[in-house]
Amino acid sequence: MSRWRLTDLVTDGAGTGMSVVVNVAQARRWNGEAGRNWIANRKRQHLIRQRLIPHLLRAAQIRPGDRVLDVGCGCGETTIMAAEAAAQPAGAGGALGVDLSEPMLTVARHLAVEAGVTNVDFVAADAQVHRFSPAGHDVVISSFGLMFFDDPAAAFTNIVAAMRPGGRLSLLCWRDDRDNELFGVPLRAVSAHVRLPEPTESDLFTEPRRFADLLTVAGCTDVQVERVTEPARIGSDVADVVAYFTGPGRIRNLLAEVGDEGLLQRVRATMAQEFLCYARADGVWVTAAAWLVHARRADLRPDDTAPAPDGQN
Ligand SMILES: C[S@@+](CC[C@H](N)C(=O)[O-])C[C@H]1O[C@@H](n2cnc3c(N)ncnc32)[C@H](O)[C@@H]1O
Repeated sequence: MSRWRLTDLVTDGAGTGMSVVVNVAQARRWNGEAGRNWIANRKRQHLIRQRLIPHLLRAAQIRPGDRVLDVGCGCGETTIMAAEAAAQPAGAGGALGVDLSEPMLTVARHLAVEAGVTNVDFVAADAQVHRFSPAGHDVVISSFGLMFFDDPAAAFTNIVAAMRPGGRLSLLCWRDDRDNELFGVPLRAVSAHVRLPEPTESDLFTEPRRFADLLTVAGCTDVQVERVTEPARIGSDVADVVAYFTGPGRIRNLLAEVGDEGLLQRVRATMAQEFLCYARADGVWVTAAAWLVHARRADLRPDDTAPAPDGQN
């Protein structure tokens, strides 16, 4: 790789391990059960997103030579695709995936080796506070990895500062559950038995304008928000899908709060009924509804001229 090194060095002063983490609960979650669950269902997750990712990449317009940052990269599938799109014979382009989850990054590194992609690297860090190379990236992408910050304004400011002026940002996030069959159908089954918490005022994704405003304040311009809606295969049959949604994860946690042993069985039966009309010969398909948000970084700010923590630039 010429001049630009793929890995932003971890800058906690210790030189090893993860840099400062402020999203502590999310770090525990993704290094624990959520990370294990994601890895166990990685192929299913891939199929769910398969038709959405091309929208993300279309908006990102990655070109050979680009330095791409993938935030909340998980098991690295999109980072690897970005690295392939950025590859250049001279070796200047590549992709850096950043994620809180060490186990998911271990999978990402294996997948990169398996794919024979060498212009890619991964770093364990909290994107809200990680000291990225200032203005060191041409493109930032994120596939559902920007939805978990305690302080979204601080996180977006930090991430936008890692883009060069004119650099492009492209991200996907889920639409409100009420517009999104992927989560709306299983939650409907739960709500037949349990009163669900109301969506909160602080939920950024119910109102995309607020999301766009955050990006503008963080230093972006030309912010555009598009609805993308695609069929998603969520499992092989109804039993598989019900086992998935009532296994470890969000819905199981909702039910655990109620603490009724028989409840899970009743929810499973209702969910099976709900999913029956989505079953086809080739699996169970729902409509997955996301926001595609894309923008450009506006101008440099004064602190962008400070030397990069790892001596890049
Ligand atoms: C829903 S998963 C998406 C993973 C991947 N981008 C994909 O689409 O397959 C969200 C990811 O964001 C990561 N994440 C959450 N908060 C983060 C933070 N503050 N900094 C970096 N990564 C974070 C999680 O560890 C997890 O891997």
